[in-house]
Amino acid sequence: MSIKNIIAICSAKGGVGKSTITAAIALSISKQYQVGILDADVYGPNQHILFDIKDKPQFITKNDDKYIKPFISKNIEIMSMGLMTESDEAVAWRGPMLSSAVRQLSNSTKWSNLDFLFIDMPPGTGDTYLTIFKELNLSNVILVTTPNKLSHADIKKTINLVNKFNVPIMGYIENNIFNQDKDTFSEKLSINKLGKFNFSEKMLNFDLDNDIEDADLISKKIIAHV
Ligand SMILES: Nc1ncnc2c1ncn2[C@@H]1O[C@H](COP(=O)(O)OP(=O)(O)O)[C@@H](O)[C@H]1O
Ligand SMILES: [Mg+2]
Repeated sequence: MSIKNIIAICSAKGGVGKSTITAAIALSISKQYQVGILDADVYGPNQHILFDIKDKPQFITKNDDKYIKPFISKNIEIMSMGLMTESDEAVAWRGPMLSSAVRQLSNSTKWSNLDFLFIDMPPGTGDTYLTIFKELNLSNVILVTTPNKLSHADIKKTINLVNKFNVPIMGYIENNIFNQDKDTFSEKLSINKLGKFNFSEKMLNFDLDNDIEDADLISKKIIAHV
């Protein structure tokens, strides 16, 4: 198994659109490349819902080690804690258990050869970040923010955290999730802007059969960057 580019989609703030954007970009890039998604939000997984997966996991045993087969939807390989637990079951792991759940999920998944693996990160800057940043060989980070002060303040925390791990930040995506007329950033970010998602019904009611133009534009930049 080889994975050419592992890209984490991050923001300290929840609800800014990380999961939806991860799914939209993965769908767009999968038209040309082999793509996988690891949903690292083990407390609040979403990718299995966005990709409408209802199957039970299948396991493979190789040399006495047990692996999980990723789920496939729209030709994208997907692994999410939401696929390993009962649908309405909430998980309440503490720090070390959380790290080992994330580690198991990423180490036990038998991915194919992928061009891109996108990691849908949980909000915050806690244990999952440490595990993913230390143990996965990340190629890049993409940050997501909404065009307002609080999200902007939070993204600076994420930038500081990412810089401690020496993983390059490809840039940030602005998601106009609240359909604001204007940007209320108090200052501009020093990192590259990869593009923008406008507020749209297509994003709100994510439908796997809809092309999302904002995602296509950003995907081109991601492909050109790697
Ligand atoms: N550009 C957008 N336009 C409309 N709704 C959006 C947009 N981006 C995200 N959403 C909606 O906002 C909510 C939060 O998005 P989500 O992807 O779950 O954020 P996060 O993963 O950062 O917590 C979801 O209900 C999603 O459908
Ligand atoms: Mg999310």
